[in-house]
Amino acid sequence: MSVPVLTIDGPSGVGKGSVARIIAQQQGWNLLDSGAIYRAFALAVDSRAVDIADEVVLVEIATNLDLEFKTQEGSELVSVYLDGKEVSSILRTEKTGEMASKIAAIGVVRSALLKRQQDFAVAPGLVADGRDMGTVVFKEAEFKVYLSASSDARANRRLKQLQAQGHEGIISQILAEVEARDARDSSRKHSPLKPAKDALIIDTTELSLMEVVAQVSELVKA
Ligand code: C5P
Repeated sequence: MSVPVLTIDGPSGVGKGSVARIIAQQQGWNLLDSGAIYRAFALAVDSRAVDIADEVVLVEIATNLDLEFKTQEGSELVSVYLDGKEVSSILRTEKTGEMASKIAAIGVVRSALLKRQQDFAVAPGLVADGRDMGTVVFKEAEFKVYLSASSDARANRRLKQLQAQGHEGIISQILAEVEARDARDSSRKHSPLKPAKDALIIDTTELSLMEVVAQVSELVKA
């Protein structure tokens, strides 16, 4: 691999995105939120009202996905544009996450979105977060991390995130959603969620965000 790549995989709500963003900033590297690609793809499929059993149509949509990430000047926020329309907030909802998880289990969809993800690996380096970054998409990456945490801890983090954005949430419902999505992502045939053999596994249940960042940062600098 010509540029350094750090992969961060793990289940939903474990904090991959926050860790990835901070490390990318520290290193001055590019950032790939691969979940956003699957989420945008799910929205594109949903808006076209196609039959999701029709793999030919799915591959066509995946291949022609008109998706753009724009970082706002002077801010760490990334806006996502699908077919030229800003979709950042709808992209982040649990409903979109669930649609993405269902459609991400389809092998031909994953293959059609592979190169789009690999194209993010440009100088000076890349931090990529998702489910299969270290096992499939960037198998040769120099640095690999797998973050885990109890489902209770992850559901609590998600609730706090929602509240910080001014939304409501019911903890039991969030916990059920988190567990259902993990079960689907871990048990699927194509690129299931699992740690790469050479990944550093960090259980973040009892750790603060900055404690996790410190461990990952140490790995990249070592
Ligand atoms: O990470 P995020 O919650 O945004 O991902 C949404 C869904 O997209 C996941 O539940 C998973 O099914 C799918 N996904 C995937 N592979 C990735 C990233 C996300 O299958 N690399």
